[in-house]
Amino acid sequence: MKVVAFNGSPREKGNTYLALRMVGEELEKEGIELEIIHVGNKAIRGCIGCNGCAKNRDEKCVMSEENFVNEWIQKIKEADGVLLGSPVHFASLGATMKAFLDRAFYVAS
Ligand SMILES: Cc1cc2nc3c(=O)[nH]c(=O)nc-3n(C[C@H](O)[C@H](O)[C@H](O)COP(=O)(O)O)c2cc1C
Repeated sequence: MKVVAFNGSPREKGNTYLALRMVGEELEKEGIELEIIHVGNKAIRGCIGCNGCAKNRDEKCVMSEENFVNEWIQKIKEADGVLLGSPVHFASLGATMKAFLDRAFYVAS
């Protein structure tokens, strides 16, 4: 079994990473692999509501300035479990994580 974790912090080895690693240690005791993907340091634009994904129905966001979002959508599909980790930034999740999730969720809707 494999779990994929998304670290929404811009800090690669900050508190969010440490929290995800703590979960990972418990999973690994049960023989479950954890892959941590660093989202928070990428340049990811938010969803523009173009509805291209709804038209194409190909599991892809049509925005093509970077390919992280589409790669990560496939990682989610292949995984047995998904962990989302983000620092609190002004009473919300980190902005880059929000941009990623908005686009991934819209593709899935
Ligand atoms: C821009 C910014 C905004 C923040 N806003 C909040 C907040 O609203 N509430 C809070 O409790 N902590 C806030 N924090 C603190 C972080 O959530 C906290 O330090 C967190 O553990 C950082 O995680 P990281 O090391 O994974 O980046 C903020 C930090 C930053 C950089």
